[in-house]
Amino acid sequence: MSAGPHAAARETGPYEPVFVGATLERLREILSRYPVKQAALLPALWLVQQARGWISDRNMAEVGEVLGLTPAYVKGVVTFYTMYHQHPVGKHFVQVCTTSPCNVCGAENVVKAFLEHTRCGELGATSPDGNWTVVEVECLGACGFATPVLIDDDFVDGVTVEMVPELVKKYR
Ligand code: FES
Repeated sequence: MSAGPHAAARETGPYEPVFVGATLERLREILSRYPVKQAALLPALWLVQQARGWISDRNMAEVGEVLGLTPAYVKGVVTFYTMYHQHPVGKHFVQVCTTSPCNVCGAENVVKAFLEHTRCGELGATSPDGNWTVVEVECLGACGFATPVLIDDDFVDGVTVEMVPELVKKYR
């Protein structure tokens, strides 16, 4: 049986803490803006994702230790928000809305075009060159602009199959 695209979501070897050096400085700066350190959970998780590209169980344990929260609590938050990656992803993360209104306008074909042109092959998998991961998401709040796509932090509306090769070239 195939292990699937997320099989690498476990770190092995000695753990390298995230909150050292410049990342620790950044965390301290963030903590100074909150009345209690636990309230800084979301930005602390962002720092981890920026530093490592995804958030492993061991990263969650470190965040919990630093903020005085249990690993289970941290995991509950990470798993609640789809913006946090629980497995390694490509350099560029593509999110395509495939909820019904976009789907009737051709979103499935836009997804297929991204999977083909990025060479990801399947949803959630990372392309062989490590550059891309493509996922489907629920409504992005731009139902009148099908098909809306998020490429990293960039919102692109009205994406058609024909536009996909150019977009992939632009971000390569
Ligand atoms: S259904 Fe696609 S943005 Fe709302």
